Amino acid sequence: MAGACHAIGIDLGTTYSCVAAWQHDHVEVIVNDQGNRTTPSYAAFTDTERLIGDAAFNQVIKNPTNTIFEAKRLIGRRFSDECVQNDMKHWPFKVVEGPAEKPVFVVTHKGVEKQFAAEEISSMVLVKMREIAEAYLGSRVKNAVITVPAYFNDSQRQATKNAGASAGLNVMRIINEPTAAAIAYGLDKKSGWYSKRNVMIFDFGGGTLDVSLLTIADSVFEVRATSGDTHLGGGDFDNRMVNYCVEQFKRKHNVDISGNPRALARLRNASEKAKRRLSFMSETDIDIDCLNQGIDFCLTITRAKFEQLNIDFFEKCMQPVEKCLKDANMDISSIHDVVLAGGSSRIPKVQQLLQEMFKGKDLCKGINPDEAIAYGAAVEAAVLSGGNLTGKLQDFTLLDVTPLSLGVRIRNEHIMSVVIPRNTRIPFKKKEWYTTSLDNQDRVCVAFYEGESTRTTNNNFLGSFFLNDIPPAPKGVPEFDVCFDIDANGILSVSAEDKSTGQKKGITFNSDRRTSQGIESLI
Ligand SMILES: Nc1ncnc2c1ncn2[C@@H]1O[C@H](COP(=O)(O)OP(=O)(O)OP(=O)(O)O)[C@@H](O)[C@H]1O
Ligand SMILES: [Mg+2]
Repeated sequence: MAGACHAIGIDLGTTYSCVAAWQHDHVEVIVNDQGNRTTPSYAAFTDTERLIGDAAFNQVIKNPTNTIFEAKRLIGRRFSDECVQNDMKHWPFKVVEGPAEKPVFVVTHKGVEKQFAAEEISSMVLVKMREIAEAYLGSRVKNAVITVPAYFNDSQRQATKNAGASAGLNVMRIINEPTAAAIAYGLDKKSGWYSKRNVMIFDFGGGTLDVSLLTIADSVFEVRATSGDTHLGGGDFDNRMVNYCVEQFKRKHNVDISGNPRALARLRNASEKAKRRLSFMSETDIDIDCLNQGIDFCLTITRAKFEQLNIDFFEKCMQPVEKCLKDANMDISSIHDVVLAGGSSRIPKVQQLLQEMFKGKDLCKGINPDEAIAYGAAVEAAVLSGGNLTGKLQDFTLLDVTPLSLGVRIRNEHIMSVVIPRNTRIPFKKKEWYTTSLDNQDRVCVAFYEGESTRTTNNNFLGSFFLNDIPPAPKGVPEFDVCFDIDANGILSVSAEDKSTGQKKGITFNSDRRTSQGIESLI
C-alpha cells in the first residue's frame, strides 16, 4: 500500500485518542507502537526530551508538574472561564493567562520554562496519532477527519481545526463525536434494518458528555437534535475520588497532602483505576506505598460510596437527554435504540439512570465505546476522499446540526436576536436585513453571539465589526445585509454589506478573535 493516499479518522479525546482508517472495505482501528488501540492524550517535558502518548503517561508520577493532560478541557476557552478556574485547582501542572486571554500551560523543558496553549498540546497529540497511522499504513498521511464533542462551540471547533493544521494535517472535516459513534453503530447494524430508526447516542467520555438523537434510514444519518455538557466526564469523578482520599488521609494521619503534586498524581492514577474496577465489582481497594512521609495509604472504597461522591454529576447527565428529546420533538417511546459510547458510559449508575428514564429499555452496548468514534470518523474520511467506495459506503450521507443558536445583538439593549436557531442542519446560509435606529447614524456595529439566553450578556461573544461612513439618512432608511454562513464543520463566518455604498465586511471567526470593540451598535 506504500504510496497510497490514505485518509484517517482521529478521535481526539480528553484522556485518550484513537485513530482509524478505511482499508480493504472495512475500518481498521490502528494500534500504536505500544500495541494499544487508544493512546493517552498526554504530553510530557523532561530535562532531555519531549514525550507524547503512552511514554508521557507512564512517567506522570515521576514528573507531575511537567506532564500535561486534559488539554481539551481548555481548548477554545478563555482563562477567566469558570471551568478553567475550577480545573486548575485539580491539576498538578501550572496554568497562567497568556496572550489574548488564553490559558497556557507552564512547564520546564530541558531546564527552560516554556508555555504552551491547549491547541499546541492537542497538536502534539495529533502528530503522534498521524505517526501511528503512518507507521501502520506505510505511507505519509495528510488528510484527516477529526472529531469534537457535538456541543463544542465555534471557538472550540476552530481551535481544534487549527491544532490539526499545525500537526501537518489537512483537516477535511470536523465531525461530532456522537454522530461518529452513530455511524459505527448504524453501519454495524444496518444489514438487519428494514425501516428507519431513531437512535439516541449517549456519549460520555473523560471530559465531555454528548447526547445526540439521529434518524438512520438506508445510508442516511440525519442528526435531529444534540445536547450535552462540554465540561462533565470521567475526570470529574477522578477528582472527587482524589479529594475523598485526601480527606481520609488527613483524618487518619493528620497530614494534608493536597499541596504535594507527586502524591496527588499517584492518588489520581490509583483512583482512576479503582473507578474502572467499580464498574465491575461492588468494592475495591486503593493501596499506595509511602504516599507521604513514609506513610502508606490503604482504603477500601465501595461502589455505593463512589456513587454517593458523584451523584450530582450522574443526575446532571440526564438533563441533556431530556433536552435532546424535547428539541427533536420526540418522546421516549419513539426512540428505537439507546446506544452507549465513551468510557464513562460503563458506569453502572449512569446506565441505571438512563435505563430508568427509558422505562427499562435495554441499552445497546454492542459497539466498542473506546473505538466507535474513531471508526465513524474513518468512514467519513473515506467518503470525503472519494475513491472507489463500494458496499456499505456507496450511498453514505451524513446530515448534522449546529449545537448552539447564533445571533446578533439588537441595539444597545443586550437583546439576543437569533438568526440561526440551534439544531439547524449544516452547512447553512442565511441573509438578514438590518437598518439604523438613529437619524444620520454614520456607523453601525454588528456584534455576534452564540448561546440560548435571550440576553447577549449571558451568551458567548463571537466577535463584532463596524460598517463605517454610512451616508446621512433618516433612521430606518439605510439597508444592510448580514450573511451568516456555517460550514460543514460547524464553523461560522459572517459578512455584512451596506447596500447604499457597497461597503462589505466579513469575518471567519478564529480562536484568537476575542477582541471586544466598544458598544456603539444600533442595528
Ligand atoms: N470501566 C470503566 N468504568 C468507569 N469509567 C471508565 C471505564 N473505562 C474507562 N472509563 C473512563 O472513561 C474515560 C475515557 O473515556 P473516553 O476514552 O471515551 O474519553 P475521551 O475520548 O478521552 O474523552 P472525551 O470524549 O470526553 O473528550 C476516562 O475518564 C476513564 O477513566
Ligand atoms: Mg471521546
